[in-house]
Amino acid sequence: MYHFYVDQWQAVPPLEPEDLSGQTVLVVGANIGLGFEAAKSFARMSPGRLVLACRSVKKGEDAAKRIREETGYGNIACYAVDLSVFSSVIAFAEEFEKGEGRLDILVYNAGVAWRKYQGTADGYETCIQVNDLSSILLCVLLLPVVIKTSEATVEKEYRPRMTFVTSETHFWVRPTPEELSSPNMLEKINDPAYCSLPSVMACRYWYSKLINVLFTRELAKRLPPSKAIVNCVNPGLCRSSLGRNIDNISLRLRLWMRFWSRTAEAGGREIVWAAIGGRHRERELHGKYISDMEVREEGDFAVSRQGYAMQEKIWNESIEALSRVSPRFKEIAETYFSN
Ligand SMILES: NC(=O)c1ccc[n+]([C@@H]2O[C@H](COP(=O)([O-])OP(=O)(O)OC[C@H]3O[C@@H](n4cnc5c(N)ncnc54)[C@H](OP(=O)(O)O)[C@@H]3O)[C@@H](O)[C@H]2O)c1
Repeated sequence: MYHFYVDQWQAVPPLEPEDLSGQTVLVVGANIGLGFEAAKSFARMSPGRLVLACRSVKKGEDAAKRIREETGYGNIACYAVDLSVFSSVIAFAEEFEKGEGRLDILVYNAGVAWRKYQGTADGYETCIQVNDLSSILLCVLLLPVVIKTSEATVEKEYRPRMTFVTSETHFWVRPTPEELSSPNMLEKINDPAYCSLPSVMACRYWYSKLINVLFTRELAKRLPPSKAIVNCVNPGLCRSSLGRNIDNISLRLRLWMRFWSRTAEAGGREIVWAAIGGRHRERELHGKYISDMEVREEGDFAVSRQGYAMQEKIWNESIEALSRVSPRFKEIAETYFSN
């Protein structure tokens, strides 16, 4: 908590502009909040192409119009993706690969916070599907295009980057012994009956952000930095629409929002830094948790023996579950992660 209060008081430094010419930047969840602000910061660096993936093309086009008006940058493409529906993620990945052909920077920013169980048509709890499972589904489906981009830019000293937006709230959650010892942890944490326990859903958002950190580490372990740099970022507490699905926001959170929160623009800068910063020492960022524009140690549970065991377990279970959803996912996972 000490770090939280100190960090939130610090001004977020301006971004050092990077040369993004010829590069394709994809921001997932770009129509509002931090994703929109991050997309705007990228636009100011004139990438070869900026791609906004939003729940509908209309939402993306509205955001693109505002970005054009505010930055003067115009090479923006919009795609629809609903991250709570696996078939939509699969269709988007296919469309993106055909339409764009390269991917230098992927920012998986989209996220939701629910404190009541909401099931998806695919049979998962919404926070886990949108914040976690779809992030890994999309990133793996786009891996061939990322690797193709990496191979085509081998003469440059930096690699493509995949950045997942997590949160400092992952420090606050400790999976229970019952969850950790269940034969299938992914099934357990998505079980509607289990999720009907208020204590389970009370920390669900934090839990999903812990899984972001664990997925990032495991992906980085399996993907050499010579192919792509993978990291996750905490943008800090920011004013946005993230709390829209939560009734009865606690007094503590309301006070924090009032006195300690940052603007969405500042949070967007934190995200962009994780996606383009430190290029001269990018391997130091591989698999790492970035907060306040530097590598920080992850939360206590994440760095514990149990945290590493959960990382492997939840990764294996997720790969198995997503392989059933998409034969293409299975093929890519077998190609790149078999060891
Ligand atoms: N705000 C904070 O204090 C804070 C702190 C730490 C981390 N974060 C993380 O920052 C990221 C951005 O959050 P935010 O604060 O900017 O929240 P936000 O204003 O609610 O924006 C969330 C974004 O995710 C998109 N999204 C949600 N569900 C989706 C779905 N099923 N399909 C496609 N897109 C979907 C939203 O699109 P729609 O408009 O269509 O719903 C929106 O673009 C999240 O990962 C969040 O966990 C935020």
